[in-house]
Amino acid sequence: MSAADFRPTRRIVFQGLGALGVAAALAGCSGAATGGDGGGGGAVPEAGSVLATTSEVPVGGGIVLPDANLVLTQPTAGDFKAFSATCTHTGTQVNAIDGTDIVCPNHGSRFSITDGSVTNPPASSPLEPIAIKVDGDNILTA
Ligand code: FES
Repeated sequence: MSAADFRPTRRIVFQGLGALGVAAALAGCSGAATGGDGGGGGAVPEAGSVLATTSEVPVGGGIVLPDANLVLTQPTAGDFKAFSATCTHTGTQVNAIDGTDIVCPNHGSRFSITDGSVTNPPASSPLEPIAIKVDGDNILTA
């Protein structure tokens, strides 16, 4: 009969979560939709955070993860790279991949998806590389 003892307890817990859920939903409006701790926006997620699945990153291209302030690329099949999304010119967040270039919308700097090097000024320094690892289908911060 011990299983029956848990049921009332669970109901109480669920009722409590219901109230908390409303509070959490309201808090969500203030912007912590990153799946992590929110943080100050632009902070690289802590080690072991799943960033994306391998199938989400196109071969010969990449994706920008604004909330994580990262760019994930796959220059050649199975070779994944990550870079900070902070443009090295004056700090705007890069926001697009165009062909094999990572593009900053502010002054038009471009960076290689292969190594983050500058392919078009005014930036003069490469994007900062970020350590990642692939575990099965997931790409995680290392
Ligand atoms: S801040 Fe990116 S090009 Fe100027």
